[in-house]
Amino acid sequence: MFSPQGPTLRELTAQALSSVERGYDLLAPKFDHTPFRTPGRILDATAEALCGLGPSEGRFGAGLDVCCGTGAGIGVLRSLCRERVVGVDFSAGMLAEAQEAEYGRTSGPAVAYGHSGTPTVTYIRADARTLPFTTAFDLAVTFGALGHFLPAERAAVFAGVHRALRPGGIFAFPIAAPPPPRSALYWTLLGFDAVMRVRNALWRPPFVMYYRTSSLGAVRADLRAAGFGVEVVPVQGAARRPDGSPAWGLVVARKP
Ligand SMILES: C[S@@+](CC[C@H](N)C(=O)[O-])C[C@H]1O[C@@H](n2cnc3c(N)ncnc32)[C@H](O)[C@@H]1O
Repeated sequence: MFSPQGPTLRELTAQALSSVERGYDLLAPKFDHTPFRTPGRILDATAEALCGLGPSEGRFGAGLDVCCGTGAGIGVLRSLCRERVVGVDFSAGMLAEAQEAEYGRTSGPAVAYGHSGTPTVTYIRADARTLPFTTAFDLAVTFGALGHFLPAERAAVFAGVHRALRPGGIFAFPIAAPPPPRSALYWTLLGFDAVMRVRNALWRPPFVMYYRTSSLGAVRADLRAAGFGVEVVPVQGAARRPDGSPAWGLVVARKP
């Protein structure tokens, strides 16, 4: 499906009938050939919007990618951070792919020890609902993962990110504008979530992935409850909906 290198329908079905963690372990080798990897244009626009917001001549010290998968957001952090970049995910398969790509990119030990001007990059296996960091980062990002958390779980994720950030630190992520009810996208997302709800009512373990539970209003309220000040930054070059409005914006949540 998606492309000749992507997963087959059979593989995708087996993945969707697994837990989230196991499903991504299975999908990992082909994940970068699916539309589930955050596209480069969104990553680039995010990096551009965050450029200049860091505490040291506009750059950040340490950066954290929550639910990093195969490392889509790591490049964003690499371009914005001076000291170190950490990717966290609970799928060992996804982390292995990320690590392999990282090793290939730097061809060797520079990953472990860093070199002048570039941050070190490390990957840690952890659950985003129990992040193991305290005042360690200036910037945290997450891409394409909020739908994996039930609304009741977001508080733990956001509290963990808040704890992981230094004072003044930023937690940023793209958020899609809600599609208008007359659009095909609206009905596609509604249909996807409905199928997921039926699947999770009938099958164990559950695979939590809902597109329509992370509205800006709900996410903003949860971020504020976790202690963040929140703004939504319009992004240069964001794709446009047919009515001309931006298809997505960047949530920038700051720890006071
Ligand atoms: C759609 S992928 C996105 C990966 C990457 N951020 C990107 O944009 O390409 C979602 C990722 O979230 C991870 N994930 C889901 N729930 C998680 C949790 N509770 N803790 C850690 N990682 C989680 C999955 O393992 C998967 O790698």
